[in-house]
Amino acid sequence: MPANNAPVTLRDYRELARKLVDPSVWDFWEGGAGEESTLAANTEAFDRLRLNPSVLRGVHRPETTVKILGETWDAPVAIAPLALQTMAHPLGEVATVRGTAAAARVPVIVSMMAGRTVEDVAAEAEVPLWLQVYCLRDRELTRHVVERAERAGFGALVLTVDAPHLGRRLRDERNGFRVPASVFPANLYTADLGRDGFTSPAGHAGAEFDPGLDWSVVAWMRSVSRLPILLKGILTDADAERAIEAGADGIVVSNHGGRQLDGVPAGVEVLPEITAAVAGRVPVLLDGGVRRGRDVLAALALGADAVLLGRPVLHGLAVAQEEGVARVLTILLEELRDAMTLTGTGTVAGAGPELVRPGAARP
Ligand code: FNR
Repeated sequence: MPANNAPVTLRDYRELARKLVDPSVWDFWEGGAGEESTLAANTEAFDRLRLNPSVLRGVHRPETTVKILGETWDAPVAIAPLALQTMAHPLGEVATVRGTAAAARVPVIVSMMAGRTVEDVAAEAEVPLWLQVYCLRDRELTRHVVERAERAGFGALVLTVDAPHLGRRLRDERNGFRVPASVFPANLYTADLGRDGFTSPAGHAGAEFDPGLDWSVVAWMRSVSRLPILLKGILTDADAERAIEAGADGIVVSNHGGRQLDGVPAGVEVLPEITAAVAGRVPVLLDGGVRRGRDVLAALALGADAVLLGRPVLHGLAVAQEEGVARVLTILLEELRDAMTLTGTGTVAGAGPELVRPGAARP
């Protein structure tokens, strides 16, 4: 941290947030499943990568825009779905969309477990909104939330497929984690639905997640919405292939921030084989462990169309609400442009596999 204490990296924001946030909330945010070896792998896999710079390329100002599902983004970075952001600040997801818009026009993926309603978030949004969906046992409730989001102007659905039940997060078990009474999933627990009694994410998931989900869920989603559907939580080329066969419009290579099964690989480790299998048929997004501009560039080089940013958004929110989110995203995008300039990469499309030295994450 510099002498004037101004955070200059996403990791600086993490250290500031750690000092401000209740320890059990911190554990809920930062923790992963089991022994957290997958959680650690997410950042370690990026740390191991080395970039090959190409000098004297005259990259004066790199071009970061991308076009994904027909929409132009200022940069290949979207905000990952993160449940219950009202735990960081009462404005929650509303502050996140405002902060994102202040930094760049990139999508925010709003969790179905958001602490603010889809209508409240949409009223503030100057950026594209996508809805993350857990297809619950109660399909009517699931359909209800999807329809509300669609009416509010959301542009895509991100169906999370790696959570037939919630992973075992031992920090939360040890802490007996309960959320504050003011924090609840505002789209699922409302008086008009006659639902209350939310106590914890684990309790909710145990009662409402559907362990019986299979590939027919994609057709079901298609039957309830005309929005594009991306599947989040793909980690093998075989599942990427099945996702495309099932009609997915895109996939998110993700291990849920190391929060589902400990022991699965980091997304970036399997990214090359998945992007090779997908071969450009649908957009491939990646999340898990993206903390620096060089990580974004490495993911692009290994074939991702864009990345999602998770925990650092919560850190920004906790430190300085919407300004914190804006600053976190601005820092990441400045670092991306720096890495593009210094590797001689003028455009996102120009980031090819030759940029990453062969090794752990490149076949
Ligand atoms: C998540 N994630 C998540 N994913 C999802 O599909 N629906 C959700 O509601 C949530 N909620 C959530 C809450 C918290 C506190 C965390 C840390 C994560 C997973 C998230 O979308 C993403 O996959 C990872 O967080 C990405 O990894 P990084 O950037 O946090 O390393």
